[in-house]
Amino acid sequence: MLGSSLLKILPLLAGVGHAVNLSVARDGGNASSPLMYGIMFEDINHSGDGGIYAELIQNRAFQGSIEFPSTLAPWEAVGNAKLSLQNNTVPLSSALPTSVNVAQGAGSRAGGVIGLQNPGWWGLSVKPQTYTGSFWALGSYKGQFTAKLQSATTSHVWASVQIKSECEQSKWVEHKFQFKPPVAAPDTNNTFVLEFNTGHGSVNFNLISLFPPTYNDRPNGNRPDLMKGLKGLKPSYFRIPGGNNIEGDTFNYRWKWNETIGPLTQRPGRPGTWGYENTDGLGLVEYLQWCEDLEVEPVLAVWSGVYLNGYNNANPDVIPEADIGIYVQDALNELEFIMGDVSTEYGALRASLGYPKPWKINYVEIGNEDNLSDPASYTSYRFMAFYDAIHAAYPDMKLISSTGDLTAVSGHSGTDYHEYARPNIYATQFGLWDNANRSHPILLGEYATIQGNKADPSTPVDWSGAEPRLQYPIWVGAVSEAIYTLGAERNGDIVIGASYAPGFQNLNDFQWSPDLVSFNADPDQVAFSTSYYAIQLLSSHRYTHTAPMTSDSGFGPAFYVAGVNSGTTEYTFKAAVYNTTAPIPFNIDFEGLKQGAKSKLTVLNAPSGLSYNVAGGQNVVKETVTELVAKKGGVFSFELKEYDIAVLTTF
Ligand SMILES: *[C@@H]1O[C@H](CO)[C@@H](O)[C@H](O)[C@H]1NC(C)=O
Ligand SMILES: *[C@@H]1O[C@H](CO)[C@@H](O)[C@H](O)[C@H]1NC(C)=O
Ligand SMILES: *[C@@H]1O[C@H](CO)[C@@H](O)[C@H](O)[C@H]1NC(C)=O
Ligand SMILES: *[C@@H]1O[C@H](CO)[C@@H](O)[C@H](O)[C@H]1NC(C)=O
Ligand SMILES: *[C@@H]1O[C@H](CO)[C@@H](O)[C@H](O)[C@H]1NC(C)=O
Ligand SMILES: *[C@@H]1O[C@H](CO)[C@@H](O)[C@H](O)[C@H]1NC(C)=O
Ligand SMILES: *[C@@H]1O[C@H](CO)[C@@H](O)[C@H](O)[C@H]1NC(C)=O
Ligand SMILES: *[C@@H]1O[C@H](CO)[C@@H](O)[C@H](O)[C@H]1NC(C)=O
Ligand SMILES: *[C@@H]1O[C@H](CO)[C@@H](O)[C@H](O)[C@H]1NC(C)=O
Repeated sequence: MLGSSLLKILPLLAGVGHAVNLSVARDGGNASSPLMYGIMFEDINHSGDGGIYAELIQNRAFQGSIEFPSTLAPWEAVGNAKLSLQNNTVPLSSALPTSVNVAQGAGSRAGGVIGLQNPGWWGLSVKPQTYTGSFWALGSYKGQFTAKLQSATTSHVWASVQIKSECEQSKWVEHKFQFKPPVAAPDTNNTFVLEFNTGHGSVNFNLISLFPPTYNDRPNGNRPDLMKGLKGLKPSYFRIPGGNNIEGDTFNYRWKWNETIGPLTQRPGRPGTWGYENTDGLGLVEYLQWCEDLEVEPVLAVWSGVYLNGYNNANPDVIPEADIGIYVQDALNELEFIMGDVSTEYGALRASLGYPKPWKINYVEIGNEDNLSDPASYTSYRFMAFYDAIHAAYPDMKLISSTGDLTAVSGHSGTDYHEYARPNIYATQFGLWDNANRSHPILLGEYATIQGNKADPSTPVDWSGAEPRLQYPIWVGAVSEAIYTLGAERNGDIVIGASYAPGFQNLNDFQWSPDLVSFNADPDQVAFSTSYYAIQLLSSHRYTHTAPMTSDSGFGPAFYVAGVNSGTTEYTFKAAVYNTTAPIPFNIDFEGLKQGAKSKLTVLNAPSGLSYNVAGGQNVVKETVTELVAKKGGVFSFELKEYDIAVLTTF
């Protein structure tokens, strides 16, 4: 942990609401970081595949590895078909060698219908909207294929289309289709069915895909409901492509940018770090387009030469110093692919895939949580090997170490500090960055309240698994996180950004809780957490500079920050109140504002500190908006009570 120097926290007098009298000056503050609130997305248990990546078909291309061999699951036979996995002598591609053979089962009647069906990712949402599908087939079949969406409970067909077979015996042929169900299905217990007539031999299928409409209508894009949620946070950066996701469990399973690009037929997929094979349909270009769609700054993580090795920290798989150059070069190639002119080797590769216009990367993080995976080699050679090469090629790029401290940095860069805590811990960390070394930017790349308070307020998080995690973010956690990030805002000259982590939880198969947004196959069930609403309020109110304050009170139980748009009297005041029995009166005057000036006060609170939001439920977070008029001396007066998170803006 970094050395923390706490502000003096005033002792609390039960029942007495000590007034906070504040004068806010216009000039003399520090520039605030335009990045401040961002997004951390980890492709954790089906947050990518089966999550925000909109593909509806689970196991669409039978991808596998030594770690997770290809499987037929969850495909099922239709009409007495016999399904088997095959590596054909003619593969669809070297990346996708395995396909499903659909043959007539024993005892089938001639002229019957056989096929296969897929339940989606724990269900399929059927709405009156256009679905776009495709599949590759190999065989001698000459009739029609039928693609359908149908109910798994009643077999009612919601949509169906016939596709004329263009099959050939020695060549894979892609078939495309669209359909639009006339009505919505009442639930998500539906299946996708692909069938054909028997009597013409078997057919092999591969890369069977079905997409609903996506955000911004991007082909191979993201779920609109979840993207709208992220957009609603008004984020300013996005750490791609995740944390543990880049590392890989064991040798050779790191995230390889160059195997996540190009047509889906060219992406082999890889064993991810969360117990299943990833399709890599959500690849490097898709992550960059996601940043474009959200209009956020990408913070690109590059692999730093260590595999997770099943979290065996005593013996991680580390690339020795003599070999690290290969991976440094790979990171440079990736940057050239993203940013290079089309005359460069990898810029030309990008253009050949249909993206002549380069993207821009201003921030690169070297590795992920290297403090947990062999910090010694990170400090002695891994970090500097990447730093030196990237800095030489891109001198203006900001390079961030992943240890959360300055051990590897030695005067060169910023660092990404991660902390998971309990409410009582974050509530004491308002001043965490006040005395930090100001020559290094700090990214709070991951934070979240993951367990509740204990009688002893200094009890650290229990990582042993003995104490369960919160399943959903609770309001007292959201308030304490607000105190933590208000402390970051106050130090916006060095704390460049903060992102709650992780972003998503697939309620059907989650590994880590709590998460910012919980979802299942049904877009109507998405749960935006209490922390989500707190971050949304703070993130949607930005200012260019912090504003100096003079006060008669210390911080606690109210914690606050003031800001101003430089050269104006547009002020923003943000506060969170943690432990108090009595409401706290505030009297605030802002330089340059007189009696009669107006402001808007927005306050969030919840029925109790333990309130949380669940899938399909009502939002427990209540918002109260009040217009205030400045009294004599330009003073705005109001009260905040326990667990209020408030933003006041003058106008
Ligand atoms: C704070 O301001 C209020 C109202 O202006 C005043 O009554 C009170 O005495 C002030 N408190 C302190 C500690 O100055
Ligand atoms: C296909 O080839 C892969 C790689 O050699 C192998 O692991 C897999 O078992 C094969 N699958 C089948 C169905 O033969
Ligand atoms: C879907 O319906 C089938 C058939 O009634 C049932 O067996 C299955 O449990 C249902 N699945 C879900 C997720 O409700
Ligand atoms: C991707 O790059 C790595 C080198 O980092 C190389 O070993 C691998 O063959 C490349 N993959 C493809 C498909 O070109
Ligand atoms: C990282 O490791 C160094 C040395 O092992 C230690 O001093 C520091 O406290 C650690 N930082 C974090 C954030 O864990
Ligand atoms: C702060 O960081 C700079 C650059 O790495 C270093 O030179 C300086 O000694 C540090 N200051 C303190 C007080 O540690
Ligand atoms: C909040 O109150 C609890 C219970 O009285 C106490 O244990 C804890 O230290 C307080 N935390 C803060 C940050 O004031
Ligand atoms: C994560 O997903 C994999 C594959 O679906 C599953 O085997 C594993 O149990 C999941 N982990 C948890 C903790 O849910
Ligand atoms: C500006 O930053 C300095 C530290 O560099 C800090 O002491 C001061 O409080 C900050 N001022 C404001 C208004 O945030």
